[in-house]
Amino acid sequence: MNAGATVVGIDLPGLSISEAFQALQLSPEGDRICLLRGDVCDRTTLLTLRDQCLKDYGIPDVLVNNAGIDQPPGPATTYRLEDVPWEVCQKVFEVNTLGAFQVAQIFGAPMAEAGRGSIINIGSLYGSVSPDKRLYEHLKADPPFLKPPAYGASKAALANLTRYLATHWGPSGVRVNILSPGGVLGRQDETFKQKFCDRVPLGRMANLSDLVGPLVFLASDASAYVTGTELKVDGGFTAW
Ligand SMILES: NC(=O)c1ccc[n+]([C@@H]2O[C@H](COP(=O)([O-])OP(=O)(O)OC[C@H]3O[C@@H](n4cnc5c(N)ncnc54)[C@H](O)[C@@H]3O)[C@@H](O)[C@H]2O)c1
Repeated sequence: MNAGATVVGIDLPGLSISEAFQALQLSPEGDRICLLRGDVCDRTTLLTLRDQCLKDYGIPDVLVNNAGIDQPPGPATTYRLEDVPWEVCQKVFEVNTLGAFQVAQIFGAPMAEAGRGSIINIGSLYGSVSPDKRLYEHLKADPPFLKPPAYGASKAALANLTRYLATHWGPSGVRVNILSPGGVLGRQDETFKQKFCDRVPLGRMANLSDLVGPLVFLASDASAYVTGTELKVDGGFTAW
């Protein structure tokens, strides 16, 4: 919004609106942001939302595929590797990979018809490297906390899907890139944060503001000749 965009968000039905989103709605630019409800796995709803967006705002210039699921440490997420349920893996792929693909199909097609646009998929450092399980050993759960194996795999698949879409829609003037954040500072426990920061060449976790410049770069004509690439915003985590 600070870069002048009108922003239409899509999030799952029934969830409360975050404080950050409410603050944006109440800001002076609040008439340039709205939230629609839908599931990236629900094609029928997405088609309806697409038609609504086209009618109300026209063809999008930028599509950001941000919806994603992970499993933070907690009692429900401790497994022996050999016991990770099929359904957990399937759901992660459905949302993180197939959901992003479906949104790109539905919102990207009119962009391609219009001959312009930028699609930005949100990946993850774990699309490039495996999680270091030593970061979680202090949690002392038995069986241990496992970062879902499907999470990184789903983001690696999204990176390759990005290259597919970039080559497919390049001739139509639609650029497709993937922005892969490192660990973003949130409600992680202190020991985790310390261990994680020790592992980052820049010595800290990402702040949300660290992601803004790279996102605006990929969204704007500043990256007019950039497509099919992964922009890692991870403080150097994956450089080691
Ligand atoms: N937080 C991090 O450290 C981090 C690091 C690397 C990558 N990422 C990626 O960044 C993106 C945002 O992550 P976040 O940490 O802000 O997570 P988050 O849980 O705060 O946000 C994800 C959003 O996606 C929505 N969502 C989930 N399933 C959906 C579905 N089926 N349909 C529509 N919306 C759905 C959720 O409701 C939520 O609003 C994700 O793709 C995540 O994988 C996050």
